[in-house]
Amino acid sequence: MKPTSPPRRHRRRNALALILAPIALAGCSGGDSSGDGLRVGFAQAGAESAWRRAETTSIKAEAEKRGVDLKFADAQGKQENQIAAVRDFIAQSVDAIILAPIVETGWDDVLTEAKDAGIPVVLVDRGVDVGDDSLYATLIASDFVTEGQMVGEWLAEKTSGNAKIIQLEGTPGAAPAIDRKKGFDDAIAAHPGMTLLASQSGEFNIEKGKEVMEALLAQHAGSVTAVYAHNDDMALGAVQALEAAGKKPGEDVLVLSIDGGKAALDALVNGRINCVVECLPLLGPNAFDAIEKIRSGETLPKWQKVEDQLFDATNTDADFVANRPY
Ligand code: AHR
Repeated sequence: MKPTSPPRRHRRRNALALILAPIALAGCSGGDSSGDGLRVGFAQAGAESAWRRAETTSIKAEAEKRGVDLKFADAQGKQENQIAAVRDFIAQSVDAIILAPIVETGWDDVLTEAKDAGIPVVLVDRGVDVGDDSLYATLIASDFVTEGQMVGEWLAEKTSGNAKIIQLEGTPGAAPAIDRKKGFDDAIAAHPGMTLLASQSGEFNIEKGKEVMEALLAQHAGSVTAVYAHNDDMALGAVQALEAAGKKPGEDVLVLSIDGGKAALDALVNGRINCVVECLPLLGPNAFDAIEKIRSGETLPKWQKVEDQLFDATNTDADFVANRPY
């Protein structure tokens, strides 16, 4: 069962405090020994984006701060590697597993093995589609459908419902690729003047985003008015492709993205990206809080939603970007 989308939420800049508060405290404390002796496996999907690298850093830093013995495995974008890593953690009898699943499906068997071994699994950033949601303890993640909707609604408002759009999708089968597409499609459905010229995967990385955008520009350079990329890295690749094609990103073609990392927000301040919806990767404190609660017998909500906000020229400046933590 896949968690369903929540009602549209009130989004405000200080919602960031909810998720960042433990990290801010981490900078002030001299360490925390709450995890002494705890052995945790972290099965990461890969390192395809700045976002994912920030997530890895956050989880590693929090483990170190709490004195947790963290076993880290980078699946390099392959589900079979990630399943093998989870099996290896089970064989090592770790106390808990943190999993950032590459794709939504195909997890029932290995998660059943973890459950049978009595090892709780905390999902971070992406959900899974499994037949039995007792196979994982909790999911700590943003609402990707809402993120896609926020981008679509912003574009509809700015263009009065008229845009010819290229969409750069994330990794096929990944929850953020599926849900960000759905949210965006839903938002533009009410506007007959908004049409998708093309929609193709750029695999969440900058090189592929640029390559796909170059190929799509060869067909649609004369008509495209907006690019919606499912993450910052692909948006930055699209910016490069637009510039190489002699177009001004942000003016000739609107550029919209999701993640909210420093590089994309810097491009926003410089006018080359127009709208960025945040997706917070700093999940380390929340993941280890969850593990501690599970170990003390608490039952956690199946989905602990991370609140995100929208950035555009009206609420983002260079000072804000300079202090961006990822
Ligand atoms: O699952 C989160 C997504 O994965 C981020 O948007 C993207 O940058 C990453 O690779």
